[in-house]
Amino acid sequence: MTNPSKGPDWEQLRSRFPVLQKKTYLNSCSYGALAVDVEASLQRYLDARNDKGADWDYWVGRNEAVRNSVARLLGAEADEVAVTTSVSAGINSLASALNFDGPRNKVVITDFEFPTNAQIWYAQESRGARVVRLTEEDGKIPLEKFAQAIDEETLIVATAQVAFRHGAKQDIPAIAEIAKRKGALTMVDSYQALGTMQFDVKKAGVDFAVGGMLKYLLGTAGIAFFYARQELIESLVPTATGWFAQEDINAMDITRYSPAANARRFEAGTPPVPNTYMAEAGLAILHEIGLEAIERRIGELTTAIKDAATEAGYQLASPVNSSHHGAMITLRSNDDNRLVASLAEDNIVVSCRNGNLRISPHFYNNQADIEFLFRALHKRRDLLV
Ligand SMILES: Cc1ncc(COP(=O)(O)O)c(C=O)c1O
Repeated sequence: MTNPSKGPDWEQLRSRFPVLQKKTYLNSCSYGALAVDVEASLQRYLDARNDKGADWDYWVGRNEAVRNSVARLLGAEADEVAVTTSVSAGINSLASALNFDGPRNKVVITDFEFPTNAQIWYAQESRGARVVRLTEEDGKIPLEKFAQAIDEETLIVATAQVAFRHGAKQDIPAIAEIAKRKGALTMVDSYQALGTMQFDVKKAGVDFAVGGMLKYLLGTAGIAFFYARQELIESLVPTATGWFAQEDINAMDITRYSPAANARRFEAGTPPVPNTYMAEAGLAILHEIGLEAIERRIGELTTAIKDAATEAGYQLASPVNSSHHGAMITLRSNDDNRLVASLAEDNIVVSCRNGNLRISPHFYNNQADIEFLFRALHKRRDLLV
């Protein structure tokens, strides 16, 4: 709930997430908390099934509502957004539309990628792609590395906005600019960023963007998006496809492939109907609050986490500078799995990757959550570096 003169009522918003009454939930980088609005939306789907059986026209409308909502969040047109079932599905569709036979066959990725955004590009090596992976130095991929690697042979740079292992944030507009100067495309994996900060695909200058609804977008698993810049869509003809990607879904034409003129050509089969209900409701909460306010709120929470860690002498795996990290702050641990399991005994939900404890607040967390977490961490300081 937002009062224009006073800003969002964070405690009222928090009360819409029942899990927060039972747990200190700081794990939105893995799965966002469930809002009562999202639960009610799924219930409406279930009720409709009992009341009406099938309601395809309405269901297709829910998919379109998700498309519109994501487009608004990204500063894109609805025609530039495909609603997919995962980030992997979107990247696979894009990769299937690219040609690696020509003079540009290089794909630049980095150490920051979530596995799927590396594996799918390596899978294209059998089609002629050459994957170059830029290595991390002190938790960063220096821009000079992009400038050196991206050349006239580069087809696409595909990289994460925020790294899932430690929360470091990349300068996506700067990377896209380097790529553009060399005539290469840019795809950003925004899964760990969108929903936590303002991000406009046009201002950032990216050609493609992917993300999913289960974390900071407050929806559920099994639904994601793929953005493609309008000017590129017609030149890209995916071979990974399906009937919902055709120009006329209802044509039921088994004699030809006629991809939709817009980004729907990157979709495939039947939409995940229950997930569209949940995603629509989750996205609506973000629009209700606004990304500017959410970004500010998360900034206050991540600052509090960094301050508490620094005061206690714990080692941050994330960059200290707030413009260089996302919503996730990570602490180095000598036994991260044990630390996560041990914190769970105090009803604290966090996660870990590669020796890093991941603390990932969303707008629904508060200072009391962070204080509670740190009191619990101080009891387990032997598991921290
Ligand atoms: C950065 C990033 N990309 C992609 C994914 C997942 O992709 P998919 O929707 O294909 O499971 C995740 C996490 O689950 C992620 O953190």
